[in-house]
Amino acid sequence: MSLYNFDLDNIDGLYRLDSAGMLKMLAELPTQCRQAQNAPLPWEERPLAAESITHVVVTGLGGSAIGGDILRVLTAGRMPVPVIVNRDYGLPHFVGPDTLVFAVSYSGNTEETLSSFEEARRRGAALVAVTTGGALAKAAQSCGIPVITVPGGLAPRAAVGYLFFPLLRTLEHLGFWPDAAAEIEEAGEVLKAMHEKSLGPHVPQDKNPAKQLARRLYGRLAVIWGSSGTTEVAAQRWKGQINENAKAPAYWNVFPELNHNEIVGFRFPASILKNVHVVVLRDEGDHPRVQKRMEITAKVIDGAVDGITEVHSQGKGLLARIFSLIYTGDYTSVYLAALYGTDPGPVEVIDYLKRELGKNGAGS
Ligand code: PA5
Repeated sequence: MSLYNFDLDNIDGLYRLDSAGMLKMLAELPTQCRQAQNAPLPWEERPLAAESITHVVVTGLGGSAIGGDILRVLTAGRMPVPVIVNRDYGLPHFVGPDTLVFAVSYSGNTEETLSSFEEARRRGAALVAVTTGGALAKAAQSCGIPVITVPGGLAPRAAVGYLFFPLLRTLEHLGFWPDAAAEIEEAGEVLKAMHEKSLGPHVPQDKNPAKQLARRLYGRLAVIWGSSGTTEVAAQRWKGQINENAKAPAYWNVFPELNHNEIVGFRFPASILKNVHVVVLRDEGDHPRVQKRMEITAKVIDGAVDGITEVHSQGKGLLARIFSLIYTGDYTSVYLAALYGTDPGPVEVIDYLKRELGKNGAGS
């Protein structure tokens, strides 16, 4: 049944479809910023030594890994040690006693994360577990590894604030990232204003860019483009949120790399390209030549695709700007779910896969 005529201003209808409360969680994201800001971290009792740390690795998957990418992009231009995100059973060869490893799993039961956690432990890395509980919390506690406990009962992707801010606060504690508090506060304020004035379900479609964009993406293949070093992580998040919330395919890439390959592929098959809608995420921090590239690229693909929509970041600091784009994408994906008549919360396919894997081995 086509639900194209589903009225996105029918607030009761939106909430009825949303069994897991994804809309409520989105409304509460600004609060997550505040709560994560004030939550106690284990460092008060068990200080970490910054002097010896030469790398930071965030190991996790899906909704538990995206906070690592936010950290990587945010810190790349300003922090003396690199942040690497690891989405695998193993770890890169360099990981050792001088590596700070955050093992992040919302459920605490993701098998790849449990495996890389064990590997980090064997190599003597400075390890921290970030989780609601599960096998990860048990394994960490059993060998005296600090655990940052995150509030439970949410979908992992909806806990992005809880999963990300403790990482930043840990870097702040180590002296790698001064004044995280002010940046987190700004992000919270920007998100709150966006929820109230433009993105929330109570804002009617004619004033709500996320509802408008969901309509444009309905029945189309979403292609999300960001920029290396600024909006790339938001593009990646948009893709994942459209997949998991709207149960629809989406693809992402970054400037300038896409100008060297993907841009050539907008000729065939013409009928499919006519159903592609491109979203370009824009930020004041994008390199001036990248901004120029975005304009030229739009001219190149214009006639081939269904349409191109630009979404601009809001806020002053990079953290707020990244979160502002993520927030627009999160809302768009939930409204798109409503247009498809699907419940944004459950991810039955992931659950099925984990169950099947669980029959044939440890963890999920
Ligand atoms: O959004 C989701 O549910 C997934 O992407 C999960 O985050 C992913 O499967 C990993 O699970 P967890 O976050 O519990 O480690």
